[in-house]
Amino acid sequence: MHEGVDAPDTIAFLAGVPLFQGAPQRALEVAAGVVRPRSFDEGAVLFREGDTGDALYLLAGGLVKLSKVDLGGHEKTLALLQPPEFFGEMALLGQATRSATALALSKVSAYMLFRDDFQRLLTTYPTVNLNLTTTLANRLRGMDDEAQVLSYKDAPGRVAYVLLRLYRSGVVSLEANGALVRLTHQDLANLAGTSRETVTRALKALEEEGVIMTRPKEVRIIDPDGLEEVLHGIR
Ligand code: CMP
Repeated sequence: MHEGVDAPDTIAFLAGVPLFQGAPQRALEVAAGVVRPRSFDEGAVLFREGDTGDALYLLAGGLVKLSKVDLGGHEKTLALLQPPEFFGEMALLGQATRSATALALSKVSAYMLFRDDFQRLLTTYPTVNLNLTTTLANRLRGMDDEAQVLSYKDAPGRVAYVLLRLYRSGVVSLEANGALVRLTHQDLANLAGTSRETVTRALKALEEEGVIMTRPKEVRIIDPDGLEEVLHGIR
């Protein structure tokens, strides 16, 4: 056990991570004995696309952006992750290189689980293996939905989709007068796979619909159901 790590706390944290949900106590104890805590400052790159990877990350605090650079040189944000999500498992399965870059958008704390320990947990505990498969299936489903939206929806529909995804995944601050998304138009453009100018116009259209309010560097979602209607073209 790493110095300074409180085993019961680590076990309680691990029990809430999707990878270990419903796993036997013994699996949590084994994992708690091998994970290593790390922290990263805001702006730190945890790893870059193409790097060789030997560990996955169990996110305990902060916000992480996963992104790729597309063939045209534009950044595409794949996901914004917050605790208790995990990432970085793909380089431990098959190809050893990172499929995306991970950037700390705030101060981040995480536990690292290394390849051999991860593989041992997967082969010993079927629940952990099933949880991994479920996460990968959910991610694939999300990508299929996104591919549909990005190919067939107009700009307000795409931006509505991105805002709803952030809202549902909890990457917002819930306040009395709506859910606050603290991202720039460029950040939203990277998520929606479009340009900043297009996002600015789409946000204006959504604001005129009365479903959001915008201020520099933030969007307030005031009517998620209305956003859903825009996404489905009912309004
Ligand atoms: P890895 O390839 O090791 O490093 C980048 C990580 O980003 C990858 O593992 C996954 O954990 C994660 N990742 C890749 N693609 C997506 C996606 N479409 N949605 C969410 N996470 C992803």
